[in-house]
Amino acid sequence: MIKKTVESAMNEQIKREEFSSRLYLSMAIWCEVNGYPGAASFLFRQADEERMHQLKLVHYVNDRGGKAVLMALTAPETHFDSLSHVFKQVMEHEQYITASINDLFEVAMNEKDYTTGNFLQWYINEQIEEEKTMSTILDKINLIGNEHGGLFHIDKELGLMAAAPVEAKAE
Ligand code: FEO
Repeated sequence: MIKKTVESAMNEQIKREEFSSRLYLSMAIWCEVNGYPGAASFLFRQADEERMHQLKLVHYVNDRGGKAVLMALTAPETHFDSLSHVFKQVMEHEQYITASINDLFEVAMNEKDYTTGNFLQWYINEQIEEEKTMSTILDKINLIGNEHGGLFHIDKELGLMAAAPVEAKAE
């Protein structure tokens, strides 16, 4: 049976993953209406992945005798200045999520809940991959600057990444 402290910390993470999904959905929409179809596909897919992260937590909490609770969310941003601005925010958001997963792990460890610690290991590894992927994309975008040909190319590349099998995404 999951302890209340761990359960409520997990519910906070469920909220964060749900917000991540909506944030990336909002970014995907911006990309789609601003001429970046590849980046849009990539971010639509990221939004789906975040929903999967959320669901995984929901099932875990319920399976351990707790109850997942959905909370009110603030609306994500809808306007972005540029593609670089979008991915800079993705990177910052992923770093924030990494920190929150680490905090969650600490809560589980303080409660000697090794089962939850073990479960969270998947998220710790996932964050390493996500930060690596986003930092590679951001580096490329920063290198290109606002050059149109370069942005067209990176958008195409993001589209290909979105079409790749899930396992190959971060490679
Ligand atoms: Fe679920 Fe991108 O962290």
